[in-house]
Amino acid sequence: MKKIAVIMSALCVLLSPAISLATNPEQDLKDFRNEYASRFPDVPFADFINGVYAIDKASREQWESMEEFPPYEIYIDKGEKLFNTPFKNGKSYADCFPKAKQGIKQNYPYFDTTRKEVITLEMAINECRKNNGEEPLKYGTGTITHIEAWLAYKSRGKKINVKIPNADALKWYERGKTHFYTKRGQLNMACADCHIKYSGHLIRADILGPALGHTSHFPTYRSDWTASGDGMGSLHRRYDGCNQQVRAKAFPMQSEEYRSLEYFETYMSNGLVLNGPGSRK
Ligand code: HEC
Repeated sequence: MKKIAVIMSALCVLLSPAISLATNPEQDLKDFRNEYASRFPDVPFADFINGVYAIDKASREQWESMEEFPPYEIYIDKGEKLFNTPFKNGKSYADCFPKAKQGIKQNYPYFDTTRKEVITLEMAINECRKNNGEEPLKYGTGTITHIEAWLAYKSRGKKINVKIPNADALKWYERGKTHFYTKRGQLNMACADCHIKYSGHLIRADILGPALGHTSHFPTYRSDWTASGDGMGSLHRRYDGCNQQVRAKAFPMQSEEYRSLEYFETYMSNGLVLNGPGSRK
């Protein structure tokens, strides 16, 4: 018996560092949610899809009146038309996304185990075009976000349920997680600093929103984005803006870096419902 106990405790010593160091997305998810539940005990979990408006009453009222005539509505209609317009070869987006009308956004981003990479919806839209002999669209704003707006609209109410199917996928998750917690830029701040630690606090004229639910409502119409373009922007356009806020170098949209970040952030929003497209200040 004694021998066994010695062996067992030796094993524990050997194994425990490995166990505590290993990434455990399920545990991360619990910790992430608990963090917000203790910071904002009055905010119901489901309301985190509303970003800063979940935690600030005054700006919520302004936003609710904006949502009575949603500024993104015309882009949903544009997106639907674009979606149904045939390509030169006679096919259309519907051939790539046969279930679009029932809602498909909840399936993105996903880890493609054959290609060993994260596939986002924007990427899939452009791959559909390329496979049908069409030029890819510019990422982040304009036409691609209109198509995405319609797809998001059709997916409203579906639950976010990102999966991490294998060890390769876990590497992408870890890369995204590392990005999220790494301080960067001249201001030396991480996503986690602004969107966890200081969430609910003011930065200049803005209240910092929670990262829980960050990905639920994209693409998004922002009044700030009307200065360049039609006001619509993708999640990666927002990442670009946040990186620039801390004067860090932004990564290209749809780069591995931002796709990893999207993968991590969307996983952290598992269990919430989709409510895109959205509108924000
Ligand atoms: C210096 C502070 C700061 C840092 C650092 C920062 N952000 Fe932001 N972020 C903001 C502000 C301000 C807003 C607008 C208010 C809000 O919605 O939180 C915002 C908004 C967002 C939104 C849109 C939220 C919504 O509801 O539409 C996303 C997504 C986002 N940030 C992601 C990130 C990610 C990912 C990082 C790390 C790469 C990051 N941010 C780093 C300040 C920051």
